[in-house]
Amino acid sequence: ANGRPQISASFRDVAIDGAQSEDGAPEQGGSTVSITVVGASGDLAKKKIFPALFALYYEDCLPEHFTVFGYARSKMSDEELRNMISLTLTCRIDQRENCSDKMEQFLKRCFYQSGQYNSEEGFSELDRKLKEKEAGKVPNRLFYLSIPPNIFVDVVRSASRTASSQDGWTRFIVEKPFGRDSESSGELTRNLKKYLAEEQIFRIDHYLGKELVENLSVLRFSNLVFEPLWSRNYIRNVQLIFSEDFGTEGRGGYFDNYGIIRDIMQNHLLQILALFAMETPVSLDAEDIRNEKVKVLRSMRQLRLEDVVVGQYKGHSKGGKTYPAYVDDPTVPSGSITPTFAAAALFIDNARWDGVPFLMKAGKALHTRRAEIRVQFRRVPGNLYGRRSRSVGGGGTTATRELEKATNELVLRVQPDEAIYLKINSKVPGLGMRLDSSDLNLLYSERYPAEIPDAYERLLLDAIEGERRLFIRSDELDAAWAIFTPVLADLEANKVAPELYPYGSRGPVGAHYLAANHNVRWG
Ligand code: NDP
Ligand code: BG6
Repeated sequence: ANGRPQISASFRDVAIDGAQSEDGAPEQGGSTVSITVVGASGDLAKKKIFPALFALYYEDCLPEHFTVFGYARSKMSDEELRNMISLTLTCRIDQRENCSDKMEQFLKRCFYQSGQYNSEEGFSELDRKLKEKEAGKVPNRLFYLSIPPNIFVDVVRSASRTASSQDGWTRFIVEKPFGRDSESSGELTRNLKKYLAEEQIFRIDHYLGKELVENLSVLRFSNLVFEPLWSRNYIRNVQLIFSEDFGTEGRGGYFDNYGIIRDIMQNHLLQILALFAMETPVSLDAEDIRNEKVKVLRSMRQLRLEDVVVGQYKGHSKGGKTYPAYVDDPTVPSGSITPTFAAAALFIDNARWDGVPFLMKAGKALHTRRAEIRVQFRRVPGNLYGRRSRSVGGGGTTATRELEKATNELVLRVQPDEAIYLKINSKVPGLGMRLDSSDLNLLYSERYPAEIPDAYERLLLDAIEGERRLFIRSDELDAAWAIFTPVLADLEANKVAPELYPYGSRGPVGAHYLAANHNVRWG
């Protein structure tokens, strides 16, 4: 129904994860998948993970035999977990259809085990219950670590020792943050690898599961009109923009320890950049794609302090409503200088991208919510319609002046209201010669009326199928941290004060100066 191959019992990489039945091949129809959400009582589990699992179930994408377990310290019965989950399940695939039967069937497959995160007893008990459900089938197990990062290793240690599958595969999805800098990320990787093989670790970056981000490579590599233009010869600059129209509400405690550069730029925006700028991979195989991403990340210059602007939102009153400052959040230490906004200019020192600024901008509590990739092309050389000297028909001079500014721009709007549009110059109909900048527009809601799957659906399904293309490999992570670690250290060592901007505004003006330094105007 979703155009994706139905999941089969063959779970592609059984051999890599050491999952084999007696004859070395998975038993057809004889396997089962148990998905354990560790941190099941938390925000992400309720908001995203359980609803994504239900959506996959609804679309018949989950294997025939599957079980969902919640694991956390909170005391809960199976029934209480089901009640909790049912509050956030929606019939998102088809609003008109009553999917309550499906919901009931899904909830019957959900169970709960309470335990400490560093407790082998807790995970042994989980193992016992999993075995009951798995009886007679090759057991495959997926653990989703939806917990704070300080307990990742505790869970992996306990769960891998006591609750790994004996005959099937065992995989762990790990949520960000993957450390705070190169050193802590390296330490996390080393600790995880004491218990797991790299092939078992699925580091999630949910932006890679977004529809438009998936389409980026399709757009580039399967359209003759784009790939030849994809270089410094034709592209003037690339902008990666993330903005939210709300603050850190509820997550200030986590956020203050990380800041916007670690929360959004080093992962979500940089991942998009790597996909955008990589060379053509040998194939669509996960390792081929990840090899190219690592190469381009390693070609990037370390970010310098002079190429970064940081900001923090301040309280603001508008229309009788008061919006809080970042530091008004009770979980944020008073006087915090953690940036809630940053803009940065990055460069790739390779033949394709030499000298092209890649500008990133990310902020919370801004005037709008959007995520976009904007590609600004160079001016048309010797543009016939860009000459001022001659007036062509009615209003020619004015029109040509406008045109000089209007270079082509390709925009991928990741959210909201997904779209891909290309700004082109064309003639305004009429007897004169007036030119206009207009859009060739692929608006998803018009072209594809079906609901777009949530990023977590795609990523969970990929993890179950053993597809690693959209997950971050450890060398990718090292390369990503190498770009940002020095500047993060400089910002902190120099206690760089963020430029304050009002909640709901367009952010600090410093971002415009930064762009201007590189001859760029934000789109
Ligand atoms: P929560 O803070 O809600 O924590 C999840 C669960 O972990 C809690 O329900 C709690 O369960 C347990 N827990 C919380 N704090 C501690 C602690 N200090 N020590 C031990 N256990 C604790 O996290 P989220 O659900 O928001 O996020 C989970 C993971 O996903 C994190 O790594 C986060 O960075 C990441 N993430 C979250 C996003 C979001 O939108 N929420 C977005 C992207 C990533 P109990 O007390 O029952 O054991
Ligand atoms: C998370 C960040 O990774 O992404 C949050 O930690 C941010 O701060 C969120 O709000 C944005 O995700 P989305 O999918 O809502 O754009």
